[in-house]
Amino acid sequence: MTEHDVRTLVESHLATIPDFPEPGILFRDLTPVFADGPAFHALSEALTEPFAGGFDVLAGVEARGFLLAGAASVLSGAAVLPVRKAGKLPRKVLREEYALEYGTAALEVHEGELPPGTRVLIVDDVLATGGTVAAAARLVERAGWQVAGISVAIELVDLGGRAALDDRYETFSLLQY
Ligand code: PRP
Ligand code: MG
Repeated sequence: MTEHDVRTLVESHLATIPDFPEPGILFRDLTPVFADGPAFHALSEALTEPFAGGFDVLAGVEARGFLLAGAASVLSGAAVLPVRKAGKLPRKVLREEYALEYGTAALEVHEGELPPGTRVLIVDDVLATGGTVAAAARLVERAGWQVAGISVAIELVDLGGRAALDDRYETFSLLQY
């Protein structure tokens, strides 16, 4: 399937919900894509294709990134690193905070979970302001691994996530709005 065909298939299942979770926000809902076998398969495959041969592990960002990283890992044969919200991991962690509209949140990984130099492709559903994947990238680097790139299903271009990443990482998005 060409990237254009994947885009058309995924977009045909994407739901766009006005005024969720707040008035004025146009919410891009991927659950109907997850609910369609061929669309979910094609999306999961497309996320790793631009990085073929260039990564060892897929880092999925909790929560929605877990679905895509898990599926893409089976399709590509790569392992998975769960990048978890704070307080969930039982061993010694590295933590990175990031800004939310109100306040901050934090992501964590286990120190030493992967060998030094492991090439990690960060996967998430949406790139909005970029705060989430930027925090994941800082964790990967602090842990002594390499960021192989960032791959997302949807990029909300007006929110400037790509600029927030300072063009430091190869960044792929299947759909842009
Ligand atoms: C959402 C989305 C991305 C992030 C993008 O996650 O799944 O991870 O926001 O926003 P940003 O680029 O501005 O950081 P959220 O933590 O809201 O929810 P989730 O736990 O359902 O993934
Ligand atoms: Mg998320």
